[in-house]
Amino acid sequence: MGCDRLQVKVVPLKSVDQEELRILAAYIHEACLEEQKYAPEAKELLKIGEADLVRSLEWSEAGWWVARQERGPEESRPLGLVRIAAGGEGGRTAVLSGLYVTPEYRRRGIGRLLVETALAEAKEEGLWQATVLVAETNPAVDFYRALGFNVRRQAAMIGYLFMTLSLKEWEPSPGRDKDVSSGL
Ligand SMILES: CC(C)(COP(=O)(O)OP(=O)(O)OC[C@H]1O[C@@H](n2cnc3c(N)ncnc32)[C@H](O)[C@@H]1OP(=O)(O)O)[C@@H](O)C(=O)NCCC(=O)NCCS
Repeated sequence: MGCDRLQVKVVPLKSVDQEELRILAAYIHEACLEEQKYAPEAKELLKIGEADLVRSLEWSEAGWWVARQERGPEESRPLGLVRIAAGGEGGRTAVLSGLYVTPEYRRRGIGRLLVETALAEAKEEGLWQATVLVAETNPAVDFYRALGFNVRRQAAMIGYLFMTLSLKEWEPSPGRDKDVSSGL
């Protein structure tokens, strides 16, 4: 990919078409397979989680955000996705799940753009902290640390960490365009 600049836009699920939905379901499957490498003992739970996440793609208000490469007025394709749902006490915690960026586009800031877009929206809606469960050997732990998350504790699920970020003082990275499109 050299130094080609990528035009990536983060959009809510309701903006994607059927073909993109099919690709997103395949990404959720890939994410589940990848996570099994880090948490083989959670295989059955991950499969249940995968089925739930795929089902939620049928619901346009499911809290999914999609990173989409814009290649022209008629041409675009998804490169990654993340889901954010309100949970916790009083529904004021943003619970992240289903984060995935297709491997050949990793380490170009797409994961950060996705999660920060979802968090900015959650903060605007009055949520005050974000949480995520991550398998402790998954490099995604470093990704979440880079975004400001801290390990809160071992999760009830063996081999998983419970990571949190307070949204009270949190701001997205500078340089993130207002319309969340970005030349990465
Ligand atoms: C985790 C994931 C979404 C990161 O996406 P990404 O687009 O590559 O992330 P970014 O480029 O935005 O990374 C932002 C920062 O996070 C950190 N980071 C990202 N991936 C990392 C890795 N594999 N190892 C160490 N640090 C990493 C770096 O500090 C990076 O900044 P840098 O590239 O300037 O050093 C991607 O690796 C992925 O899809 N993994 C498989 C699915 C998964 O594990 N999901 C999480 C389940 S909880």
